Amino acid sequence: MRRFRRLRGSEAMRRLVRETRISAEEMIYPIFVIEGENIKNPIPSMPGVFQYSVDRMDEMLAEVAASGISGVLIFGIPKEKDAVGSQAYAPDGITQRAIRHIKKKYPSLLVVADVCLCEYTSHGHCGLVEGEHILNDETLPLLAKMSVTLAQAGADIIAPSDMMDGRVAAIRHALDEAGLLHIPIMAYSAKFASGYYGPFRDAAHSAPQFGDRRSYQMDVCNKKEALREIADDIEEGADFYIIKPALAYLDVVEAAANRFDLPIAVYNVSGEYAMVKAAAQQGWIEEKRIVMENLIAMKRAGASILITYHALDAASWLKED
Ligand code: PBG
Ligand code: ZN
Repeated sequence: MRRFRRLRGSEAMRRLVRETRISAEEMIYPIFVIEGENIKNPIPSMPGVFQYSVDRMDEMLAEVAASGISGVLIFGIPKEKDAVGSQAYAPDGITQRAIRHIKKKYPSLLVVADVCLCEYTSHGHCGLVEGEHILNDETLPLLAKMSVTLAQAGADIIAPSDMMDGRVAAIRHALDEAGLLHIPIMAYSAKFASGYYGPFRDAAHSAPQFGDRRSYQMDVCNKKEALREIADDIEEGADFYIIKPALAYLDVVEAAANRFDLPIAVYNVSGEYAMVKAAAQQGWIEEKRIVMENLIAMKRAGASILITYHALDAASWLKED
């Protein structure tokens, strides 16, 4: 009989043979910055997550900086929206201003800038719109322009989440032209048209005003197509890539980890966070245990970077243990 239990007999023994570990430094914490002053708005479907105005961000940033988390993923919520998302690439837009603030006060915190038009367009789609159609090629120059303004404001990493074809190449070209050769692109390569983004769209005011995102985000049924998307983004110049959502897509993470050499980030999205928080508030699950189990599962599948709203909690739990 094989005695597997020999290596499970004590916590010290279990630690010794542990195959997967997580740490704060591989985590990125998503944050929401809203135009205005003295704002800290709770997001009802995401307990513990807030929209901050720039003047109150430090309340949260100080905690992030002290936690050991490597960086933040920033989403801006502008006051003015229009059909072409002008505020997305305004050099003095809300996101650009917030990035300048963060980099000035916390220079060692990495700022990952989400690149997409949906928070900035009146129609809420991720690209330009003609009738009911989301335009691809016409959107690319705007994404490129947005990326350059974000990098010029101090963003350390550019993360396009729009899912237009060819955007990584367009952004790489624009960054290089602007002398920003050192700025890496973390592409949301495999972003599925998921029901799990619901709470985020409340938080970022980015719900589409007509239709849905299925003509540009991926069909949730497709794994091989995800690998083609990733391969293409790598060819276009992505330095690393994101698979999103996380939990229901760990098969995609494992397949990608087996095929490509670049670091993989998973985005543990708003709906995944909301489910855990809701069940924990009911007392139906143990929050800490479930969160850690989920994060371990993402790493075990092959992810090396964890983008998660649980990052602050997880970092403090890791310090306790
Ligand atoms: C913007 C964007 C979305 C998310 C990240 N960037 C929403 C969407 O595509 O509708 C979702 C993040 C989350 O749910 O936590 N394109
Ligand atoms: Zn979008």
